[in-house]
Amino acid sequence: MIKFNYVGSKYRILDFIIPEIWPAKTLVDPFCGTCSVSYEAKKLGLRVVSGDYMLYPYNMALSIIQNNTITLDESDIKFLLSFKPSGIAAEIYGDIYLSREVWDLIDGIRGGINKMKKEKRPLALAALSAAIITGQSMGNFTVKSMPLDRVIRDKNKFIELFNKKVVSINSCVIPGDGRAFYCDAIETIKNNSADVLYLDPPYVTKYVRNYKYIYHVLENLISNFKLELRKDTKHPIPINFTNETTKRNIKNFIRKILLSAQNYKRVLLSYNSNGVPCVDEMKKIFADCGFTVFVKQTGIKYYITSNVELRSGTELLYIATRA
Ligand SMILES: C[S@@+](CC[C@H](N)C(=O)[O-])C[C@H]1O[C@@H](n2cnc3c(N)ncnc32)[C@H](O)[C@@H]1O
Repeated sequence: MIKFNYVGSKYRILDFIIPEIWPAKTLVDPFCGTCSVSYEAKKLGLRVVSGDYMLYPYNMALSIIQNNTITLDESDIKFLLSFKPSGIAAEIYGDIYLSREVWDLIDGIRGGINKMKKEKRPLALAALSAAIITGQSMGNFTVKSMPLDRVIRDKNKFIELFNKKVVSINSCVIPGDGRAFYCDAIETIKNNSADVLYLDPPYVTKYVRNYKYIYHVLENLISNFKLELRKDTKHPIPINFTNETTKRNIKNFIRKILLSAQNYKRVLLSYNSNGVPCVDEMKKIFADCGFTVFVKQTGIKYYITSNVELRSGTELLYIATRA
């Protein structure tokens, strides 16, 4: 099982989701995130398509869904650690999120990744991103004033963490039939077809989850620190809110997604019990789009990082078939 810390990751409730997918032969997962669902399906022998509009999930999908054989070895890590930093990461982030020393290390590794064999780069980028998420205390990049004693600031500790993530990603490289796409969900849905379409969009509750905002540092890292940033917050300019889900547009967003799912007989949608739209509204949207739907639910604990619990909640799975 994949266990990468990521807001909304489904690795804790795979037993709740996977039985509804199995025994399909093909799966499309257009909001793949850390690929926890895609990967379980690949393990079961399904042909899998994983897509996301962010670079960390895309590199994860390239590494463990599309790739079946390539792993990183000790000489790769040694190679990556041999590069001197350009200074750009520490210049941008200073002591924000991690320490300067660790930013310099990351900067060197990032430079090294550009010089690696092309087919190995996604694995290194995914491992480096996963290490950065774990290395800073909130597990995301929304709070920039976290005291340094709560983040990884020691170079050797970060190297240890990076090594661990490389081992985790290597262990997820298995034979199979998968494809990775870097694009908007609607494009992935329309350009593919499968027995099952699994939808795991950002939930809209009293909070809005804007993944481009939550993980902006990883977007910049993977873009070689070349994104244009706001001076005060270090967020990219502009954070593209046009295709973000909000209370106002979420119903339309889900309707559009379902209307684009003509190639799928069975559609699964993960959502939260406190989410907008509520269960009755969501059922109506499914019905309007030509689906018969029922809902199952399970309890879940949400975590800030892999071991700091935030609160408990109820996860829903809408299971829809064409009427
Ligand atoms: C709830 S997370 C998915 C978690 C994933 N199932 C896992 O287990 O890790 C939602 C994902 O949808 C992606 N996303 C949000 N809006 C999107 C869009 N319009 N098109 C494609 N991906 C989108 C985000 O980048 C995020 O990775």
